[in-house]
Amino acid sequence: MADYGKGDTKWFVHDRFGMFIHWGLYSMPARHEWIRNYECIPTEDYQIYFDLFNPDLFNPKEWAKAAHDAGMKYVVFTTKHHEGFCNWDTKFTDYKITNTPFGRDALREIVDAFRAEGIRIGLYYSLIDWHHPAFTVDCNHPLRNRPDRDKLNEGKDMKRYAQYMRDQVTELLTNYGKIDIMWFDFSYPVLPELAVWSKGHPERKSWDGKDHEDWESEKLVKLVRSLQPGIIIDNRLDLPGSGDIKTPEQFTSDEPLRNEDGSLAVWEGCHTFSGSWGYYRDELCWKSVKQCIDLLINHVSRNGNVLMNVGPTSRGYFDERAMHCLEGYAKWMKYNSRSIYGCTCAPEGIKEPVDCRYTYNPETNRLYLHLMNWPFKHIMLPGMAGKVRYAQFLHDGSQVLFRDNQKKEVNVALNATCAEGDLALELPVIKPNQEVPVIELFLK
Ligand code: GLC
Repeated sequence: MADYGKGDTKWFVHDRFGMFIHWGLYSMPARHEWIRNYECIPTEDYQIYFDLFNPDLFNPKEWAKAAHDAGMKYVVFTTKHHEGFCNWDTKFTDYKITNTPFGRDALREIVDAFRAEGIRIGLYYSLIDWHHPAFTVDCNHPLRNRPDRDKLNEGKDMKRYAQYMRDQVTELLTNYGKIDIMWFDFSYPVLPELAVWSKGHPERKSWDGKDHEDWESEKLVKLVRSLQPGIIIDNRLDLPGSGDIKTPEQFTSDEPLRNEDGSLAVWEGCHTFSGSWGYYRDELCWKSVKQCIDLLINHVSRNGNVLMNVGPTSRGYFDERAMHCLEGYAKWMKYNSRSIYGCTCAPEGIKEPVDCRYTYNPETNRLYLHLMNWPFKHIMLPGMAGKVRYAQFLHDGSQVLFRDNQKKEVNVALNATCAEGDLALELPVIKPNQEVPVIELFLK
């Protein structure tokens, strides 16, 4: 595999928890950030959102505070999404926030506000662009169903678009200080046998799907690495060897993700509170606070990060449903973040009890037992007999008593059967007032 350099992921695997922000013109129709694609909206009809965009309640200090309180240590903000609208004052297009009635460089203000809260900065940049005149109409494009599609593609040139991306990325990575993550999104190569428009016309490849050749990914990666050494690059450029992190979407894993050689992969699952990424007023499938917390624990227990998304409204604030979830995180993280930061999966061979997730801090040699479902009075930790020096609830530091069962016998004192080698924790009947209680185990 080619060597495209490496980003610094040390801080990333320590910090574990970030905020994704999807904000653009699509927050006005509020029916999904893919609305131009879903509803096949022509450029002229989409213009109304640009002409009226004016988030009068935009206050990124509030966003940054909400992220900070929730325990999030980095942010990834959409500088440009598939609609092509740019949230910063770019020199390379007029289709930018400073030309809307709002007139301010949102990116600048966001970067300043989040840095002031001690939060690292990541930039999402859409490879897809449904507004740029050189970007060919393809299977995802809003104009894909137009009968004059072939005509529309005349004179379009992905080379020009690839240069535009490099110009913009240069701007983003030069004018906004240190950037920790560059999050490109996304490639969709089409197998030749599935091609429709380019069959027999190899020069029309980009009319079906788009891949590293269209983005000129190699040049893009080299450019990014030269402008911001140490920056983390995601894995969506269709260029094997160029990604520092795997980025599965709305997915939870039973196992840690692995690299091809079997080693533990650095990975980040990105998730939404309600399903779509942009603000979607009428969406009803919002996750509960418990689900949000479970997600975070599950990812860290599988050596992963969570990038949790907020889609601010078109007036520029976080909707109360999003705030409810963020406040849920804040409440839990205030007392339990020690089981998240600096933690990874349990050492090889340690088996999780039913309904539980372990995380482990190798520096302190402490194992964290997350009880996703509250058991009755005891919980047996398989194979942990003789291995624990002390146990306490994490949220209040109160001792949790335990018995080691080194011999195979019925533990009369506990009135419970406990297999040889198990350790039995004695729990209060009433679940502590924590969404997910955590027990901190000081290992020997
Ligand atoms: C997808 C979608 C997009 C979203 C992204 C986040 O690829 O195209 O709307 O920005 O995932 O991971």
